[in-house]
This record gives sequence, C-alpha cells and structure tokens, in this order.
Amino acid sequence: MKFLIINGPNLNLLGKREPGIYGENSYESLCARLKDFAAAHGATAECFQSNHEGAVIDAIHAADGVYDAIVMNPGAFTHYSYAILDALKAVDVPCIEVHISNVHQREEFRHRSVTAPACVGQICGLGLYGYEAAMSYFLLKENAGKENFHTPLP
Ligand code: DQA
Repeated sequence: MKFLIINGPNLNLLGKREPGIYGENSYESLCARLKDFAAAHGATAECFQSNHEGAVIDAIHAADGVYDAIVMNPGAFTHYSYAILDALKAVDVPCIEVHISNVHQREEFRHRSVTAPACVGQICGLGLYGYEAAMSYFLLKENAGKENFHTPLP
C-alpha cells in the first residue's frame, strides 16, 4: 500500500511551533516515523508539506492513480479551503483528515472543517499518533481477512 502524507501550512515548524499544543517532535522526525511505520507493515509512505494552497492541490491531483491513500493534515486550510475540498472530490484516492490537536477544544473557527466532507473520516486530538491511526485504518481495510490482520469493525 502506498501512502501519501500531506501536511499543510506551518506544519513544517512542528517541534518549534506552539509545542504545548503540537508537541516537541519535528516535522522531519514525524516523517521518518511514518515511513518506518509504513515499512513495518509492508507499505510505503511519502511525505509532502507545503505552506501554499495551490501546491497542496497539485499534490492531491498528482496522487491520483499513484497512491492508494492520502493522510492529510490541511492545517488552517481545513477551515476555509473549498479548493482543497474540490481537489479531494476530483480524485479517486481515499483520504483521512488528521489534526494533531483537539480542534473542538480550541477557538470556534477551528471547529468547522470544510475539507472533511470529502474524506473517509477525521481524527483529531490524538497528537502525532493520529497519522498512524489513519494509516492503520487503511492497512486494516486493505488486508482484511489476511493472516495476522484483524478485520476492522464496520
Ligand atoms: C491543526 C489544527 C488547525 O486548526 C491549525 O490551523 C493547524 C494544525 C492540527 O493539527 O491540530 O495548523 O490542523
């Protein structure tokens, strides 16, 4: 299974940016961990990060037919990017949206995701583990019924 991990604006500053909210691990260490996690499950993960909306859209378009699943933290684009919503709808790659923080415990503007309706689901508030949780879901789905793999509950 080939994963594309997309991170939107300011997530390149993980570890430095508001560590009380987003933790002390860097973006680079997150990517290394997710690549290891994928490899441990017979999969691959490529990481892409951009602070530019159009670049995120281009990455989603380019994922079509290349990746099996997208795990995306759109950062603040989550709350207003109809263009990213449309990009997700335009391609045939399932996506799970991840937020490191529990956006529902934070400012009102973070409670709404305009991108989540185009996603299989959304995970928030689990820290960096949320990315692995999203990958686990896709791995279980893909490998359901195979030896050593649990079939996910419906
Ligand atoms: C975030 C939450 C967003 O509201 C914020 O703009 C981010 C990060 C999260 O991972 O918790 O950049 O997506």
